[in-house]
Amino acid sequence: MNHPMAESSPEKTSRMPGFYRLTISERIRAVARFAALSPATVEALELGLPLSRANRMVENVGALMALPLGFSPNFRIDAEDHIVPMAIEEPSVVAAASNGAQLLRTGDGICTEASPPVMIGQVQLLKVPNMDAAIQAIQEAETELLGIANAHKPRVIERGGGAREVICRPFPETAAGPMLIVHLHIDVRDAMGANIVNTMVEAISDRLAALSGGHANVRVLSNLADQRTVEATGRVAISKLQRRGLEMPAEEIAERLEAASVFAEVDPYRAATHNKGTMNGIDAVLLATGQDFRAVEAGAHAYAAASGRYTALSTWRREGNELVGKLKIPMPVGVVGGVIRVHPVAAAALEILGVTSASCLARIATAVGLAQNLTALLALATDGIQRGHMALHARNIAASVGASDEVIDDIAQQMVAARMINADYASMLVRMTKK
Ligand code: MEV
Repeated sequence: MNHPMAESSPEKTSRMPGFYRLTISERIRAVARFAALSPATVEALELGLPLSRANRMVENVGALMALPLGFSPNFRIDAEDHIVPMAIEEPSVVAAASNGAQLLRTGDGICTEASPPVMIGQVQLLKVPNMDAAIQAIQEAETELLGIANAHKPRVIERGGGAREVICRPFPETAAGPMLIVHLHIDVRDAMGANIVNTMVEAISDRLAALSGGHANVRVLSNLADQRTVEATGRVAISKLQRRGLEMPAEEIAERLEAASVFAEVDPYRAATHNKGTMNGIDAVLLATGQDFRAVEAGAHAYAAASGRYTALSTWRREGNELVGKLKIPMPVGVVGGVIRVHPVAAAALEILGVTSASCLARIATAVGLAQNLTALLALATDGIQRGHMALHARNIAASVGASDEVIDDIAQQMVAARMINADYASMLVRMTKK
């Protein structure tokens, strides 16, 4: 099949109408052309993770558990176009991300602001005889403590990072008695930072115990990485919320979408689902790029509850003739070391994104979360989510009974229109196309 989108274009754009209609090899070729991938990278994508490498990643390896890797086109983030690789088992997520990205392409696209990559390490001090004296001693020894921490990780200092600050957080009354929690703030540059942080807090814990007169107990990073956040802002003209087949006026769609956002802002039961939808997109990018998605998940939900009441991570408001979305979230990701060195598909995914820094990956993942959330709310505020799900489900069933690429969309449409989304009906339609 020679699709016009697959032709080379003079301008690098991720806007790719009809991308979903391409065959797998055409999609890979289109992505390879867009990201100027080497033949070796394309081969890495096609071959996936060898079992021998998997055996070096975790213990007791016996098999691989593969996930589909979809490509989400249309993203424009901070004035740059991206095709985003997403690893996920749930249908609709990749399509929804691309649709949201298409709506949010206006101007520079989704705009992001990232804080410096500062992670938090914690040391728990127990049996501290005098809390105030311990805090004073630790604060006076800050330079010395930073020096001890930095001496244990010289490479991060060479890259411009390092331990930056020591903060004391007393908990005078707990079930385990008074405890003094000491935070070490560390700029980890392009690493996710878990190893750097854990090494540094372990390195300073003896000195902290001596300064406080207490005992050091837990020493580990905090996943509530609220010093390492990204805020993404996306704008869409309200008139663009209208689409074919939808009777509702654009202004009403915007009003309902804003109300859906407010629902999640005020009600934790809804916020959990709203945030889950946002994380659908973020996790898929994190999985594709070999990140510790559990760390980001843990941080996201703790951050959503930071005010004392669990709420929505993203919000949508009408501003003039635009709908404006904002998503702020801790984003501890890394592009050096770890899985990326071992997993060829994760390395290829980073190459496709063209990211060279952790901050760049963090911005893209957050932007994808915002686009994902927009499409979910748009569906919820109009047709409901089942309609879109069903269309994709119908496609999958049609494919499973042997519908060819030429007829699959047509058959799926007939199944949805007849509300007969099952294998028997799909088989019958496939047989009819062969007559
Ligand atoms: C499903 O995986 C995600 C949604 O439930 C998100 C939402 O309700 O906002 C559609």
